[in-house]
Amino acid sequence: MDPRPAADSQAVLVQWMGPTDANMAGFVHGGVVMKLCDEAAGIAAIRHSHLRVVTAGMDRMTFLLPIHVGELLTLTAAVNAAWRTSMEVGVRVEAESPRTGEVRHTNTAYVTMVALDENGRPAPVPPLEASTPEEIRREAEAQLRRANRLAEREEIVRQREDEK
Ligand SMILES: CC(C)(COP(=O)(O)OP(=O)(O)OC[C@H]1O[C@@H](n2cnc3c(N)ncnc32)[C@H](O)[C@@H]1OP(=O)(O)O)[C@@H](O)C(=O)NCCC(=O)NCCS
Repeated sequence: MDPRPAADSQAVLVQWMGPTDANMAGFVHGGVVMKLCDEAAGIAAIRHSHLRVVTAGMDRMTFLLPIHVGELLTLTAAVNAAWRTSMEVGVRVEAESPRTGEVRHTNTAYVTMVALDENGRPAPVPPLEASTPEEIRREAEAQLRRANRLAEREEIVRQREDEK
C-alpha cells in the first residue's frame, strides 16, 4: 500500500456552542467536546484509510480552559501515526469569542481509530508519510504513547497473573 501524506487526512470541524450544550455551571459540557473530538478524529481517519472506522480508545483528553455558550469551536484533526489497522488521530480544539475575536486553545485529544473491512474486521491502513518537522514530531510522540499503552497493558496482565 502506498503511504499517504499526513496533511491529506486533515479535517476541520466548526460548531457554534448553544444553550443545549451547557452544563449546570453554564459552561459547555465536557461530553459535548469529547463527542466533537471523536467526530473530527473519525473524519481524519476515514480520509487517511478510505475505510469505515471505529473508535478503539481515547488515550488523552485535556480540558485546559472552560468554553462558554455562544462561542465558536474549531476542531482540527489529523492522523499522527498509522500502524497495521489502527491510527492515532490528534485533535486540537480552539474556542473563539464572537464578541472579541479572541481565540483560546481549550482542548487536545488523542484518539485511536481502527479501520474495518466490509465484514467488520480490522483492515490494513496505508503507512503515514510524515514530512514536516511538526508531523515527524507528532508521529514520534504517537509512537511513544502507543509503546506506553502496550507496556501498561502487559504489566497489568502480568500483575493479575501474579495475584492468582
Ligand atoms: C476496535 C476493535 C475493532 C478492535 O478489535 P480486535 O478484535 O481487538 O482487533 P485486533 O486485536 O486485531 O486489534 C486491531 C487493532 O486495534 C488496536 N486496538 C484494539 N483495542 C484497542 C484499544 N483499546 N486501544 C487502542 N488500540 C486498540 C490494536 O492495537 C490493533 O492495532 P494494529 O492493527 O494497528 O496493531 C474492537 O475492539 C471493536 O469493535 N470495538 C468497539 C468499537 C466501537 O464500537 N467504538 C465506538 C463506536 S465507533
